[in-house]
Amino acid sequence: MAKRVGFATRLGAIAAAVGSAVGLGNIWRFPYEAGANGGGAFILVYIGCILVMGIPVILSEFIIGRSTHSNMKAALKRLSPGKKYYLFTYVCIFGSFVVIGFYSVVCGWIIEYLYQAALGRLGGHTPQEYSDMFTALVASPWRCVGWTVVFLLLNFLVMSRGIAKGIERVASVMMPLLFVILIVFCVNSLLLPGASKGLNFLFYPDFSQLTMRGVLDAFGQAFLSLSIGISCLVTYSSYFKDDTSLTKDATTVAALDTLVAILSGVMIFPAVFSFGVEPTAGPRLIFEVLPGIFQQMAGGYIWAFLFFLLVFFASLTSTISLSEIPITFMIEEHNMSRRRAIMWTALFTFVLAVLAALSFNVLDDIKMWGMNIFDIMDYAASNIFMLLGGLFTAVYVGWILDRKVVHDQLTNGGRLKPTVMEPFLIFCLRYVAPVSIFFIFLYLTGII
Ligand code: PHE
Repeated sequence: MAKRVGFATRLGAIAAAVGSAVGLGNIWRFPYEAGANGGGAFILVYIGCILVMGIPVILSEFIIGRSTHSNMKAALKRLSPGKKYYLFTYVCIFGSFVVIGFYSVVCGWIIEYLYQAALGRLGGHTPQEYSDMFTALVASPWRCVGWTVVFLLLNFLVMSRGIAKGIERVASVMMPLLFVILIVFCVNSLLLPGASKGLNFLFYPDFSQLTMRGVLDAFGQAFLSLSIGISCLVTYSSYFKDDTSLTKDATTVAALDTLVAILSGVMIFPAVFSFGVEPTAGPRLIFEVLPGIFQQMAGGYIWAFLFFLLVFFASLTSTISLSEIPITFMIEEHNMSRRRAIMWTALFTFVLAVLAALSFNVLDDIKMWGMNIFDIMDYAASNIFMLLGGLFTAVYVGWILDRKVVHDQLTNGGRLKPTVMEPFLIFCLRYVAPVSIFFIFLYLTGII
């Protein structure tokens, strides 16, 4: 078995978990999902979901990972000897490939915008021209596939340099910077004429706008954004030290992740209304709106470049954590060398990502349920794989896992005082999460 390398510092471990959580899910997907589902009411459901499902499932993944210091499969085998729960790992691995598949296409778009910003071409246009610019990008198979491949090459290059060095360094420096720049953009957005309409859309809960599908989207978005349900945080927390407070880390990760999502909303929606873009524009939303915000700012080119650079790093720390799921699995369960595991992971990822990149152009007539390949991957990843994974994790830790393991992990073997988190966690895992996810699935399949 390969030697496991721990995180150098406690901050490194949290930064890496935050680095995994904060990414395109917050900056690109959250605004477009909120926009498509009517704003305020969606956000309320989203926050509720973070509190009663998100934090409990993060904690559960931490408990599984740190109590065994192993990947999901080995962990489940150790925690439940002789049982077949470990088979669920394969669903997680498949789910992680689907996420990286569509995710790296968006990362490719980010690099294109970074490139355009570097050439100073992101300013001086009308909203319609920005919209045409995005349309031209996705219509070009070469540009779409090309940038996606560039991104994946960078990702796997960083991966091949090992976990502690690559991830920690990037995550600990870039995350705080991203946070600061988001605040600067929010202020600029709020100064736009008609900004209050955007704020109203974002924060006034109009439940007549929220459908059952919207509730499902809010759940899926919360799971994708927190990186839960496909064993990513099991893999990361397997590297955590034994004196880390899991409760503190889980709440920190959830709080920062939610804050970044809300800030992204505050940055985007005043501009959406001010520029007359449709909030329901979908995956293209931020690409149509952001250049307009930069244009309003003194030194807009530089801000644009800096912004896309930071989003690029935020995405990279997320895809690194995503690729680490199959890589650690192959190394530890199939005795592969790290290089070989990276090569296999890269190969599968390339195939899925290229399919997703082509689904806006060459393969755009392949549609199911009105969605192209990219949309199907995007939908299936969060609304099916991650939710199913969340359901499994909640039921496993809530009902099956020995309660002593949970107690030991939350109190670090008795060194920390027990808090209300433990009964709250168990209640949410046993009842709230399974019942709500189960009902959503029943509704979707048309049974209720
Ligand atoms: N949470 C990441 C984001 O919001 C995406 C991700 C999902 C990363 C699952 C790792 C695992 O961008």
